[in-house]
Amino acid sequence: MPKWLKDAVFYEIYPQSFYDTNGDGIGDFNGVIEKLDYIKELGCNALWINPCFDSPFKDAGYDVRDYKKVAPRYGTNSDLYRLFGEAHKRGIHVLLDLVPGHTSEEHPWFLESQKAEANEYSNRYIWTRHAFESIKGYPYIGGESERAGVYMLNFFKSQPALNYGFGEYKEGWQLPTDHPDCVATREAMKDVMRFWLDHGCDGFRVDMADSLVKNDDEFKSSTCAIWKNIREMLDAEYPQAAMVSEWNNPERAIKAAGFHMDFYLNWGGNGYSTLMRDYESGEDHSFFKKDGNGDIMRFLDEYLPRYTATKGDGYYCLLTCNHDTLRPKYNLDDQELKLTYAFLFTMPGVPFLYYGDEIGMRYQQLPTKEGGYHRTGSRTPMQWNNGKNAGFSTCPSDALYLPVDPAADAPNVAAQEADPESLMNTVKALLRLRHEEENLQADGEFEVLYAEGGKLPFVYRRGDLILALNPSGKTVSAPVDTDKKKLRFAIGSGEAKAGKITLQPQSFLVLK
Ligand code: NOJ
Repeated sequence: MPKWLKDAVFYEIYPQSFYDTNGDGIGDFNGVIEKLDYIKELGCNALWINPCFDSPFKDAGYDVRDYKKVAPRYGTNSDLYRLFGEAHKRGIHVLLDLVPGHTSEEHPWFLESQKAEANEYSNRYIWTRHAFESIKGYPYIGGESERAGVYMLNFFKSQPALNYGFGEYKEGWQLPTDHPDCVATREAMKDVMRFWLDHGCDGFRVDMADSLVKNDDEFKSSTCAIWKNIREMLDAEYPQAAMVSEWNNPERAIKAAGFHMDFYLNWGGNGYSTLMRDYESGEDHSFFKKDGNGDIMRFLDEYLPRYTATKGDGYYCLLTCNHDTLRPKYNLDDQELKLTYAFLFTMPGVPFLYYGDEIGMRYQQLPTKEGGYHRTGSRTPMQWNNGKNAGFSTCPSDALYLPVDPAADAPNVAAQEADPESLMNTVKALLRLRHEEENLQADGEFEVLYAEGGKLPFVYRRGDLILALNPSGKTVSAPVDTDKKKLRFAIGSGEAKAGKITLQPQSFLVLK
């Protein structure tokens, strides 16, 4: 287990939209380098950068055309190597985004694979034997290739699935995972990983990590076996490299596949979604909505068994948002966000903060851009100040990759820096607290002290600290003995005495 994960707090950067230093309307690596001190001061000491490789950008870069070359829009490979170095100087680790399940349809492997004549790459993707032989249960494309056969897709039309083999293989064109051509796909992905690790990157966020082997069994045994093999390579060659999976099944991802971390993703109706995004029905019952009458048990019933099952082996990670999800400001105001972040940043595991959530950037209603669709509204330029283009770029406004929030009261970093009560300064204070108190970090003990269906507060213990949370507009109390502990940190107010802890509306207390 990479030691640095213990006290890691990640900042996710969507590179298109972070900071533009050459005035072309799109963010770049030099922009990230210029803002490393900002990220450090905020309290984040690790980055996850969305795919920044050469791509036709039909899915914002998740359609990779060259795994070893950065997209010219962000700079050069040398700029990215410099970014690694500058980050390391500041104690910041950098994860790149690995997309192992598919490439762009413009990747040279695919251009070779679709040729009529058999070659080294013929089986790099999944093809049937005839132009009219379809694939059951998976999306596919026919009629576009020189080769007679249809090919499987992993996501959009532009993203053909790489061939790692089949768990159950019935048809002649379905290869077993130990077929040399499927093993070659896995080894090619290891080669990509080694390339970036050798140049100074610290690991990978792994896209659709569960998607490798097709017709896999219900436990994804064959996909897990491939990841275990990759983990063995990392343990032997890069023991401090970290991997976080987009899987949302930590028992599989961490225990069976060997990932160091797995994301708790916002899947409609799941435990995590009830915290911040329970508004699909038209009424908002999110736990952190002041008048939402939320229920922490809907989160805990799902989280606790997963946390318990993977404790000690890896981290189930909580996040403010990501580039696929509506920003939390969509339905929560700044006070509600302060309490949300207080919770997310004091729970076990490694937390992830999506750029701009620290100032409460809004979700924008926008037409789709580069395969974003509804996700586009969470990918707008970072708001640095109240100057031109919110300080993101000096380009003419109509040349921006995406428009900046046009609201007169759009939040920005400069304004929030100057306001001690701002959301951003609360984030800083919370992350400072986390770095100071080892018990609040990834491995610190965690125990629920008071959580009752439909009742508040929610009280939990992290080592020698007791934390109590009341997101509602009412004063609430719970029978919890806090012994002789003293107030260590507060949002709002409350008190603890005579075996009872009481919190004023919308408050959070940390006792030590
Ligand atoms: C998950 C990524 O987060 C998303 O943005 C992308 O579109 C799909 N995987 C396909 O790679």
